[in-house]
Amino acid sequence: MIYKFYQQHIFPHLLNQLMQTPSFMQSRQILLGNIQGQVLEIGFGTGINLDFYQHIEHLYALEPNAEVFHLAAERIAKASFKVQHIQASAEKLPFPDQSLEHIVSTWTMCSIANIEQALSEIYRVLKPTGVLHLVEHVQYHDNENLKRLQNILTPVQKIIADGCHLNRNIEQLLHDAKFSFLDKQYFDAEKLPKVGRRMFMATAQKMLD
Ligand SMILES: C[S@@+](CC[C@H](N)C(=O)[O-])C[C@H]1O[C@@H](n2cnc3c(N)ncnc32)[C@H](O)[C@@H]1O
Repeated sequence: MIYKFYQQHIFPHLLNQLMQTPSFMQSRQILLGNIQGQVLEIGFGTGINLDFYQHIEHLYALEPNAEVFHLAAERIAKASFKVQHIQASAEKLPFPDQSLEHIVSTWTMCSIANIEQALSEIYRVLKPTGVLHLVEHVQYHDNENLKRLQNILTPVQKIIADGCHLNRNIEQLLHDAKFSFLDKQYFDAEKLPKVGRRMFMATAQKMLD
């Protein structure tokens, strides 16, 4: 009961604040500014990315959590392009095969319960020339102590942050899902607790047989 209240009425506001951390805003600008045309954003959240798209025409805003999406209303009203809410989960994308040129994920892959299934869906709906643009917080690969701490804290993080895993190796997961990278970089975001500071920013395409 108390947890449900937290999830519905407190967590969405915390999320909206946390996701506006300055280092996140800087990453959004780098990742999103040059994308053109139609875009599917998975885990749209409270719509913080909207201000950073400069050239897009239509955004499919996929967000399963209605309470979170509700907080995007003002940002959507100000957008200069069409924003279409898709209330669905990334594990079952309501799009035909090979239909999308751009898919965006910003700090969403940590929260998807069945990430392998979601990546298989992203692969299915992306065109052969399509690009997946992502920035995610990830598992450390060069610091065993922090990696261990991420493993220890993930069960608690999942409870307080709506299923968020601190310890996902997103690069490996994408590789296993048959994506290849156009570019990729790791960096440590400023002013975040060390355990959630390591970021992975990349653009990827489908590996074709
Ligand atoms: C940490 S928030 C990031 C929100 C937004 N992408 C941003 O950059 O501010 C993670 C988002 O993923 C959404 N999410 C969780 N599970 C999901 C799923 N299975 N499919 C799609 N989105 C999901 C959550 O509801 C939440 O809005």
